[in-house]
Amino acid sequence: MRVVNISTNVSLATMTTMGLGGTANYVVDVTTDEELRQVYLNAKTMSQPVYVIGGGSNLIAHDEGYPGVIAHMMIPGIEIIADDNDTTTIQAGAGVSWDELVRFGVDRQLTGIEAMSGIPGSAGAAPVQNIGAYGQELADTFVSLEAYDIAKDLFVTLSAADCDFSYRRSIFRENAAGHYVITRITLRLFKSSPQPPFYDSLQRHLDSSQITEYTPQSIRDAVLDVRADKLPDPKIVRNSGSFFKNAIVEKWQAEDLQKNYPDMPTYPMDENHVKIPTGWLIEQCDLKGELIHGMRVHKGNAVVLINESATHYDDLSLARQTIIDAVRDRFRISIDQEPLELMTP
Ligand code: EPU
Repeated sequence: MRVVNISTNVSLATMTTMGLGGTANYVVDVTTDEELRQVYLNAKTMSQPVYVIGGGSNLIAHDEGYPGVIAHMMIPGIEIIADDNDTTTIQAGAGVSWDELVRFGVDRQLTGIEAMSGIPGSAGAAPVQNIGAYGQELADTFVSLEAYDIAKDLFVTLSAADCDFSYRRSIFRENAAGHYVITRITLRLFKSSPQPPFYDSLQRHLDSSQITEYTPQSIRDAVLDVRADKLPDPKIVRNSGSFFKNAIVEKWQAEDLQKNYPDMPTYPMDENHVKIPTGWLIEQCDLKGELIHGMRVHKGNAVVLINESATHYDDLSLARQTIIDAVRDRFRISIDQEPLELMTP
């Protein structure tokens, strides 16, 4: 039997890409469903709370650390589980890196997730905030996921409808938070070429690089280039990608603002709502490139905060408040944080 890997007093700053946070009592590497179950059952006996971490790229830890067990999700494996004339269905362990899964599809000329190339984090974390980029989101190809129901001590399958996805949202961030641990995800990819129209900045890059043949690989390459220009690599620079969600406002409010800000970009959401890039809002507040309490507002896209010299959660908290207040004062729009917080239970 495999010896379960347990470490004690582990710094959460080293386990999260924002590089903040105190220590966790225990960190356990989880590579199978049964190991996951055992972590929960043992922790219950020891009265220790459990929190599951994937890549740590969308998670902010606190100075108090975590007074319990961090289950580091490492369930491996990518498998083709169904194949027909038009589609191939793939299943990935929650611990597979998201980009490795994208590469798996692209290598097989499958489309559906190539525009989400280069998103940091794990496959198991992808449904939690319905990850998206450059015109695609997880929900577009999602079939189902397997999860451990913690209270009931059993494994369940949840459909897309069960997950109730919308922009950067699912049940796992809301009423089902802390209820399930995602162990595997299943996606259905298409045996067709990526079809234009593409997301604006992607299309501009394709045009300027004179790429006219749209394949999963050419779109992946273009996305990786655009990302490298605009987004800091969390392996090199401490950050959690977009630190705020884009603002979703009522149409009338956006039209009202456009009287004063005719260049304000908007994207349609539904009949009554539009999305405004929060990076644009922050830039208009003259905060782009600024260093606030050790957090740098990223020059490539102001929606990203880089931990340049912050050492405490309070630094981040003060920087966040400065930005939220500036956007509210200028636009009467309240912006929300995107990454989750590792809360002490
Ligand atoms: N813009 C500015 N200034 C900025 C940032 C953006 O003017 O500082 C304006 C530009 O007009 C630009 C438009 O906003 O054309 C949209 O910007 P961009 O294409 O960079 O995308 P975004 O809306 O800022 C979202 C996601 C990113 C994702 C990109 C590309 C959110 C919160 N962010 O950013 O996701 O990579 O689209 O699809 O939805 C992430 O979630 O961690 C993330 C990086």
